Amino acid sequence: QQMHGDYGFCDARCGDAELSSTSPTKILIKGGTVVNAHHKEVADVYVQDGLIVSVMHGIKVNEDVTVLDATGKYVMPDSSRVNETGGIDPHTHLGMEFMGTETIDDFFSGQAAALAGGTTMHIDFVIPVNGSLSVGFDAYVNKAKNSVMDYGFHMAITKWDETVSKDMELMVKEKGINSFKFFMAYKGSLMISDELLLQGLKKCKSLGAIAMVHAENGDGVAEGQKKMIDLGIKGPEGHALSRPSVLEGEATARAIRLATFINTPLYVVHVMSIDAMEEIAKARKAEQPSGMSLLPLQGLGSVHCKQPYVAYNGPITSRHLCHFLIFSDIPAISWLSQTFSPFSGFSQTSMPFLGFLRHSRVSLPFIGILEHSRIEGFGKLGIYEVLAFYGGRRVIGEPVVSGLILDDSLLWDPDFTTAAKYVMSPPIRESGHDKALQAALSTGVLQLVGTDHCTFNSTQKAFGVDDFRKIPNGVNGIEERMHLIWDLMVETGQISVTDYVRITSTACAQIFNIYPKKGAILPGSDADIIILNPNSSFEISVGSHHSRSDTNVYDGRKGKGKVEVTISQGRIVWEEGKLKVEPGSGRYVKMPPFSYLFDGIEKADEKYLSSLRASVKRINYAM
Ligand code: URP
Ligand code: ZN
Ligand code: ZN
Ligand code: ZN
Repeated sequence: QQMHGDYGFCDARCGDAELSSTSPTKILIKGGTVVNAHHKEVADVYVQDGLIVSVMHGIKVNEDVTVLDATGKYVMPDSSRVNETGGIDPHTHLGMEFMGTETIDDFFSGQAAALAGGTTMHIDFVIPVNGSLSVGFDAYVNKAKNSVMDYGFHMAITKWDETVSKDMELMVKEKGINSFKFFMAYKGSLMISDELLLQGLKKCKSLGAIAMVHAENGDGVAEGQKKMIDLGIKGPEGHALSRPSVLEGEATARAIRLATFINTPLYVVHVMSIDAMEEIAKARKAEQPSGMSLLPLQGLGSVHCKQPYVAYNGPITSRHLCHFLIFSDIPAISWLSQTFSPFSGFSQTSMPFLGFLRHSRVSLPFIGILEHSRIEGFGKLGIYEVLAFYGGRRVIGEPVVSGLILDDSLLWDPDFTTAAKYVMSPPIRESGHDKALQAALSTGVLQLVGTDHCTFNSTQKAFGVDDFRKIPNGVNGIEERMHLIWDLMVETGQISVTDYVRITSTACAQIFNIYPKKGAILPGSDADIIILNPNSSFEISVGSHHSRSDTNVYDGRKGKGKVEVTISQGRIVWEEGKLKVEPGSGRYVKMPPFSYLFDGIEKADEKYLSSLRASVKRINYAM
């Protein structure tokens, strides 16, 4: 049989490869340490027709196979060559129209830069055109025509109506999109309301799509900007001062709570602060309202419209997770919501009950307020305790390279061009946030690393020379991510080599449901592979980078570890410092809905709903 003669092994996959043996791309990577998120070992990797055919020892091949020799370099772990799956950048903006201009990197230059830095796939954000998803999608298909590597799309949701709702369905079922981003900031352009976010979360859930949030309180940002301008602070430092981390923490907490209320997975993009990270940490280890049971609170009376009175004398133990539901049959509920907003109250008038979920075990103040309020005209009201069971919420946190490495001192540089290149949102924080984010990444509180690559050159950044509000937001990173994260996390011993693969590639592929086609070196996976030499070193410079930008926020940085070879779609595209890419060779990767993050979601819902139904029947209003 042909395959056996070719390279002397047999495995279950070789039959597939035989079907298309005419391809000119046959590569054998010999003797490296093959690293997957689950395992690493010294092995050879044989690639043909864009796929990994085999990973094993001692693969023999004919002369028509390109051999990349890594043997003899892995005697000591420190001196080994390491083959990894190519990186996947979950967060980029190529060819994006934003803040009155367009990013300087398009799909060609951005992807060329990515390949030179060892990233072989990225997921970009389709921005709707005047709110239209379909028009936005078509525009991005066009933008991506000159692609040189594989890519996928997320899509932003910027307005809400029937068409948007229907288009979301179309995008998921036909266009290969399984994630939607909601901007809680950028007031006046991309920002959405809580009302829209709730509709979006519900729709995402029904489609099995992941809801993503840019979490900053946009009203707060607008207020902060006004304050800075009033104070005469108009330089790039005003950008950071106007949108402190408390606004990021608030929006992150709000998004997490709303996603919890809907019971759907949430992905927080560009986590830049301790404030936001701690909300994610809390949620991931917190109780979640799955498997709730509704119990009337002992000793708690119902409330009469003319004489609101609630008495509760029973014990509230820390084991009783005291969420409370207030039932009302009339729609005068927004008032209540305001009354209780200090307690993260939440109301929804369109439902027969008012869901008031208090995520705290110390709920007595809540009772106290009810007790002392004179609530007029409330019809029927009842209060029930909700018992929840422990279990982490499905919240994913994505730090970006800039947030892990840089600090805000750079925004105070007296040279405008230098300072302005660091302007992005949420802003790069004070020193200390970076270290905390690294720790969160190494301990699994945060799961994967993006870049938010969104480049504007110094001419574009200069739009805001008199007013930081006009500086286009965004920094580079697509080319630098793999090197900087290796140096920052692996070289310092913060994470293992397998964890490095997980946070730069595998986790992304799993979350966005394209694993193990992407994110693994396994027979049958796409041949997107890098060879990284941990004994070599890298140096980043604006003069040699592949981005079209005339600045680089990492200019001058050096470190250990060098991506020597990048293989994309089974072809060597980066070797010995040279790029060989072909415009138009990139492929759109469709991402199917219902990733693992959705497993079991419906079970929790069903349990919750049936307990709700049972309890609603028991309500006896005192009139
Ligand atoms: O400053 C940023 N992050 N620019 C890109 C748009 C976004 O918010 O991700
Ligand atoms: Zn065989
Ligand atoms: Zn954003
Ligand atoms: Zn972004």
